[in-house]
Amino acid sequence: MSMKKSLQSVILGLIMISPGIIAQNHPVYMDDSKPIEQRVEDALSRMTLKEKIAMVHAQSKFSSPGVSRLGIPENWMSDGPHGIRAEVLWDEWYGANWTNDSCTAFPALTSLAATWNPAMASLYGKSIGEEARYRNKNVLLGPGVNICRTPLNGRNFEYMGEDPYLASRMVVPYVQGVQSNGVAACVKHFALNDQEKYRDQINVIVDDRALHEIYLPAFKAAVQQGHAWAIMGSYNQYKNQHCCHNQYLLNDILKHDWQFDGVVVSDWGGAHNTLQCVTNGLDMEFGSWTNGMNWGSSNAYDRYYMAAPYLKMIEDGELTEKELNDKVSRILRLEFRTNMDKHRPYGSFATDEHAEAGRKIEQEGIVLLQNNRSVLPINPQKVKHILVVGENAVKRMTIGGGSSSLKVKEEISPLAGIQNRAEQNQIEVTYLPGYASPTIAEQDVKGAKATESKDIDREALCNETVKAAKGADAVIFVGGLNKNPQQDCEGDDRTSLQLPYGQDQLIAALAKANSNLAVVILSGGAVTMPWVKNVPAIVEAWYGGSSAGRAIADVLFGDVNPSGKLPVTFYRDLSQCSAHSLGEYPGDGVNVNYKEGIYVGYRYIDKQGLKPLFPFGYGLSYTTFKYGKLTVDNQTTSTDSITFRINVTNTGKRAGAEVVQLYVSDPKPLLPRPVKELKGFDKIYLQPGETQQAVVTVARDGLGYYDAKKQSWVNEPGTFNALAGASSQDIRSIIKFIVK
Ligand code: BGC
Repeated sequence: MSMKKSLQSVILGLIMISPGIIAQNHPVYMDDSKPIEQRVEDALSRMTLKEKIAMVHAQSKFSSPGVSRLGIPENWMSDGPHGIRAEVLWDEWYGANWTNDSCTAFPALTSLAATWNPAMASLYGKSIGEEARYRNKNVLLGPGVNICRTPLNGRNFEYMGEDPYLASRMVVPYVQGVQSNGVAACVKHFALNDQEKYRDQINVIVDDRALHEIYLPAFKAAVQQGHAWAIMGSYNQYKNQHCCHNQYLLNDILKHDWQFDGVVVSDWGGAHNTLQCVTNGLDMEFGSWTNGMNWGSSNAYDRYYMAAPYLKMIEDGELTEKELNDKVSRILRLEFRTNMDKHRPYGSFATDEHAEAGRKIEQEGIVLLQNNRSVLPINPQKVKHILVVGENAVKRMTIGGGSSSLKVKEEISPLAGIQNRAEQNQIEVTYLPGYASPTIAEQDVKGAKATESKDIDREALCNETVKAAKGADAVIFVGGLNKNPQQDCEGDDRTSLQLPYGQDQLIAALAKANSNLAVVILSGGAVTMPWVKNVPAIVEAWYGGSSAGRAIADVLFGDVNPSGKLPVTFYRDLSQCSAHSLGEYPGDGVNVNYKEGIYVGYRYIDKQGLKPLFPFGYGLSYTTFKYGKLTVDNQTTSTDSITFRINVTNTGKRAGAEVVQLYVSDPKPLLPRPVKELKGFDKIYLQPGETQQAVVTVARDGLGYYDAKKQSWVNEPGTFNALAGASSQDIRSIIKFIVK
């Protein structure tokens, strides 16, 4: 080679490795200055058939392959929805015993819903998203927004209550918060997974109106307003098709009507048929060959419905790559939105900040149900010795309940929270269990297994406790459900609305022994309270996560004024719940018929004129609020939205927050409608004596109903009533308005 030629080749070589030239040579899919759709198209065009097939099903319990040849990363998912689950073995539900995966547990979603504060949902989503990001998960399996049709549903605690409007308002900021971390929220379980009993096969029969007005709105909001990047199909069936591959729900409604451009992930083991998976909207198959809980067949991934059988159908010419290309495009879009977004934050894990975020959410979610004689907050002038009673005061509530079970860095129990706080006032705290639940034989990260019987001498436990209660200045009972099987746990429902383990008898005895009794219930929803008239103070504290005990103590001692409101009706008994009195529950194992239609929760209570134990939207404060007159900006309107205002004054001596709820009723509807429906709310924070205006803007579209005959939403013009209230049964002011 001549001198000149070799110089030329050196220069050429230099040019070739100069960064600018490299950038120009980058394939389009790697170039983040290009629009995502262009990158998707480019990546797809480079993939082989086998690489595409690999992408649409799992490779381990929680991951699916990327395209290693092209530098496209694997997808890693995690439960959800209350914290980032511990690592499990590749092909097992069992924990992998890592030492760096102890997370922050955030409060149960029911507690979040009880805050009635979208800012809390945003904080929740952002914080849990940071934890997911730090742990290198690009999909968080949550939040859950199935509607509470029956208080017996074993997973109510993972959902946001009984009202579609409330759940819609709360889910959107949660999703946005998670996704601000470059982590996809996978909203679950789509749809009609409203009971655990028979969940794997039960076919839900529901009319179109109830489907659209009650069961779908929160999912729709998550997709259209929250722009969720993923959604999880549910185990049950609808129109005799499993919901993980359901033409009506996934293709017609989700992808066509709502224009969802994200990924449909199957619930674990929720896929059942290759052709239906392919044609009916499923994009990623997870958990097949398992029962979804505790057994699996190793190396079964090639046998997934959307693995070798799918490939064979394409190779045999029974299917084209059309559907596959759509599925893979969606997964690639997910990759570009998450793993391949170079600008996403790095996240953070198990920080003090997250523990504080959880504490704040729980403080706002705790609901004060009763407070006769102002037993709460605890008065340190009078109370020098507190007896804390109840297994839930010490039981770890972040463990159990199924797939939401967590391994946490820290969990402050109610007892520890109370002890820490009591010390400040030199109050002595003693503890007795008072009752006991059976021991759980085995409790892995997936959930609780069968219970072992244990000889429990309930009478002796009770007698000992009652004796001690007589000598204490105040008694705090902490009980409720406990995430054991059939006590707020995935896989089955509760068998009764009552408190388990003889708690009712114990509470009644404690009420006789000490008049300074506060009962704190930890649960995912309603329980009966036969002792309600004899117990002065009752608090619903849900499941509070890592900081539960701190937040409970904050409220009991009055450092925080409670402001939570019930996101579900607390029924007196099951006859007040429409699923049990009008509809069917749990069905016959094949079908369950939602005969009650749209009359779910308070909609049924209102229709029947019932008095529940505690109504939807109810919750007390340590202060009192006076409502002024409700006004509307334009009494007659043809605009897209209508704004209502009402002054609220804090008439007590403590600062506090009130959730002003706005319900709308249509006195002369063309179709029968609920007596009233929640259409807006505003949470306002008031100093003693302060007056503020609560403002609620209702979208005109939000006033309509779903007409099953027309198969569309109808916005009737006419005269409506707006009702402002402190709960669904405590309406303070009403105003008429006319929509043209
Ligand atoms: C649950 C899902 C969960 C999945 C993975 C399923 O049994 O229904 O909610 O995300 O397991 O753990």
